[in-house]
Amino acid sequence: MLFSEIHSALPHIDIKERWPLSPLCTLRAGGEAEFFAAPDSIEDMKEIFSFVMKKNCPVYIIGGGSNILFPDGLVEGVVISTANLNSIEWRTDLTADVDAGFKLPMLMKEIREKNLAGMEFAAGIPGTLGGALLGNAGAGGRGVCELLDYVVSVEADGEIKTLNHGDINYSYRKCSLADKKRVIVSARMTFRTAAPKDKDVLESFLLRRGSQPHGLHNAGCTFKNPEGYSAGKLLDECGCKNLSVGDAIVSDVHANFILNRGKATSADILELIKICAKKVYDSTGIKLEPEIKIFDPCFSVP
Ligand code: EPU
Repeated sequence: MLFSEIHSALPHIDIKERWPLSPLCTLRAGGEAEFFAAPDSIEDMKEIFSFVMKKNCPVYIIGGGSNILFPDGLVEGVVISTANLNSIEWRTDLTADVDAGFKLPMLMKEIREKNLAGMEFAAGIPGTLGGALLGNAGAGGRGVCELLDYVVSVEADGEIKTLNHGDINYSYRKCSLADKKRVIVSARMTFRTAAPKDKDVLESFLLRRGSQPHGLHNAGCTFKNPEGYSAGKLLDECGCKNLSVGDAIVSDVHANFILNRGKATSADILELIKICAKKVYDSTGIKLEPEIKIFDPCFSVP
């Protein structure tokens, strides 16, 4: 697809050409998007998403960029960000309509200020609500999808759809919302009034978060926990801490975190992911599955 084609079809939408992706990903790696847009209304999101889907052009939806990795070089197609759909409206004392691009840490802050509870397990998780819902982000066996009343999505044909909690299946780091290419634009969520014990639960999650690296660029946990095991523990026991490729290094604080010390390319990070997965597979027979969403069709772990 040519820039002139997409621009003349959607003249009112701000579409960028050859847009750098690394500032949009917390790992600070990856190349350039052929086209990039961050619509600030559901109408514009619907228009661009359905146009691109109709054209059969590759499309990548991103939120806060805290759990994704693009390849180096030119990424053909359109990268669409939900970052500018970012408001929250409280409907009742307990219920809010939250846009997909609203940041999870901001949501945690609002909830605490309103003396609400129910999402303590998400303490310290970065990213946006949309990304968190698609991957059912969470900790301690809990996930954000639990708090959903319903989700509003833009489907591939442009339909704006409401998907109720009961229609959505979710489990550890999995959500049926991700089964189809669609854009989550907002969600209605209900919390509960905080009880004294919620403060202790929050503290315990914050404490566990404290055992993870802070400061350097990373994308949270690299691998999912295989059933019955901790990926971090397995990687640690297999000697992965401090392994590096270029500027990509496995954290010495928590072995399931890969850090970018500065100039790591996507290829460096992907190579390190493969080395770590192979080490664990060779010594335990356990196949680790990446938790980071890798937008590279050529990538697979051993
Ligand atoms: N461990 C080690 N060595 C390490 C890392 C961990 O021995 O290098 C041990 C820990 O001591 C602990 C066990 O492994 O006994 C589990 O570690 P941790 O408590 O840090 O939890 P986790 O399972 O590694 C999960 C989520 C995190 C979430 C934390 C805290 C996954 C893949 N990860 O980590 O989520 O922050 O619990 O609640 O489910 C993320 O999604 O990006 C993420 C970081």
